[in-house]
Amino acid sequence: MIGVLVSGNGSNLQALVDAGLPIAAVASNRDDAYALVRAREAGIPVATFSLDCHADRTERDLVMATWLEEHGVELVVCAGYLHLLTPPFLDRFPGRIVNVHPSLLPAFPGAHAIDDALAAGVETTGVTVHYVDEGLDSGDVIAQEPVALEPRETLEERIHAVEHRLLPRIVHELLTEPGPGPGSVKAVRVG
Ligand code: GRF
Repeated sequence: MIGVLVSGNGSNLQALVDAGLPIAAVASNRDDAYALVRAREAGIPVATFSLDCHADRTERDLVMATWLEEHGVELVVCAGYLHLLTPPFLDRFPGRIVNVHPSLLPAFPGAHAIDDALAAGVETTGVTVHYVDEGLDSGDVIAQEPVALEPRETLEERIHAVEHRLLPRIVHELLTEPGPGPGSVKAVRVG
């Protein structure tokens, strides 16, 4: 079973739902995330773990990890989740947390990857699905797919289309044939 972490629109969550993947729970750091509306419409249990309600990020993450475990979550998918995860959370799901990111990491980590690629004027950017570690979009790459920068008017749309195809495919593969986890170069594929 999957647990999905979200902070915003939730189009990647929607892609996971539409792919028929077994989503046990959706957690957010924001109670106004539209992704929570999508989850409720799909009949998935939701909860918000706001930093305002906890002493610090570590305490918040521990409570969130417990809630996910109570819902039977084995694989955590960050889908537009905008907070870094603290080590106590990572330790609860070792090698079982993945993220989707709109660039060819290690290029353009962070929250503005599409704008950063446009500003840099690269010919090709893309999408990465990777394991999550303590750093900012720094975990081992599982899969990448390139996307041409031009035509730039449609770049965002084309990147999201690739995300919505690649993320469900990789999550399905990780659920059906759990790989060797982070630290294995065999896990890297270029789409
Ligand atoms: C996606 O571009 C994802 O790669 C990035 O944040 C965005 C989330 O979009 N991490 P959505 O909330 O899934 O629509």
